[in-house]
Amino acid sequence: MERIAVVGLGAMGAPIARRLLGQGCEVTVWNRSPERGAAPAEAGATVAGTPADAARGAEAVIVMVSDPDALREVTEGGHGIAAGAGPGSVVVQMSTVSPAAVTRLARVLPPGVEVLDAPVLGSVGEAAAGELRILVGGPQALVDRCRPLLERLGSPLHLGAVGAGTAAKLVANNVLFGVLGVLGESLALGGALGLRPDALYEALGVTPLAAQAERRRPAVEAADYPARFALALARKDADLVAAAADKLGLDLGLTAAARAWLAGAEQAGRAGQDYSAVLAHILEQATKEVRR
Ligand SMILES: NC(=O)c1ccc[n+]([C@@H]2O[C@H](COP(=O)([O-])OP(=O)(O)OC[C@H]3O[C@@H](n4cnc5c(N)ncnc54)[C@H](OP(=O)(O)O)[C@@H]3O)[C@@H](O)[C@H]2O)c1
Repeated sequence: MERIAVVGLGAMGAPIARRLLGQGCEVTVWNRSPERGAAPAEAGATVAGTPADAARGAEAVIVMVSDPDALREVTEGGHGIAAGAGPGSVVVQMSTVSPAAVTRLARVLPPGVEVLDAPVLGSVGEAAAGELRILVGGPQALVDRCRPLLERLGSPLHLGAVGAGTAAKLVANNVLFGVLGVLGESLALGGALGLRPDALYEALGVTPLAAQAERRRPAVEAADYPARFALALARKDADLVAAAADKLGLDLGLTAAARAWLAGAEQAGRAGQDYSAVLAHILEQATKEVRR
């Protein structure tokens, strides 16, 4: 697959397009805010006027937009991908959305256009370096056909039929948010109990949180959380998890608590910071009484 369209040029879509250009692919891009097409165009991409135009003639259309509503906007209607994608092509859906959104996408595509469910783990740096973990759902023959493209972007992990990739992505982010929540609360607890920071991080280093504690320490100590994965998007993912759990009748208390921390941080004005800024929010809120 050499003729690729990339729809959505945000924090993740832009480096994906750049990576594919660097790998010698013929890339066509589209983004809702047209100014984001300028950098890929300079790097050799063709800029399309609509998602349908981007899809026309492409062997694969990578979609990397915010959420289920955005996915619907770029795929459906007269200007959507479904209107332009030709038989034999594939829509590689990499955004983090709900299982229902993936099912709907498969339904709206015309006959002969397949969907590969392929959300990703890893962030901006991994996208630029072609080191994403790609959680793949789809039929074996389609996965085999798409493997060379996926391997330009990272390591595909084939997990089952369409829907399995998105289900796995929700599980993985649920873990991440829970871990950040318990890390933030443990930092607050240790500090309030009077542990020096070095001792606190040393203690965390012998727990299952060791890797995250070490990774997040510089940001926590500098109180600086430059956005790679915006906190508003993490809250969106926590909502997707909550909605999926609700629909299944699952009662997930820790999941709900982690979501509440993210929603609180967003309401406190941290929507545009990195999602790890939830740690700063937890430290502020949990120790409010102690500081009085
Ligand atoms: N950033 C990460 O580290 C990371 C890691 C793994 C997965 N993800 C997931 O990957 C996806 C993209 O994340 P990102 O960080 O690249 O987000 P982002 O920087 O906020 O970019 C979002 C993209 O979606 C587009 N978009 C939003 N609403 C739209 C609509 N209604 N119609 C058309 N386009 C719309 C935006 O267009 P405009 O430019 O016009 O706003 C932009 O291109 C999300 O599902 C996110 O959860 C992100």
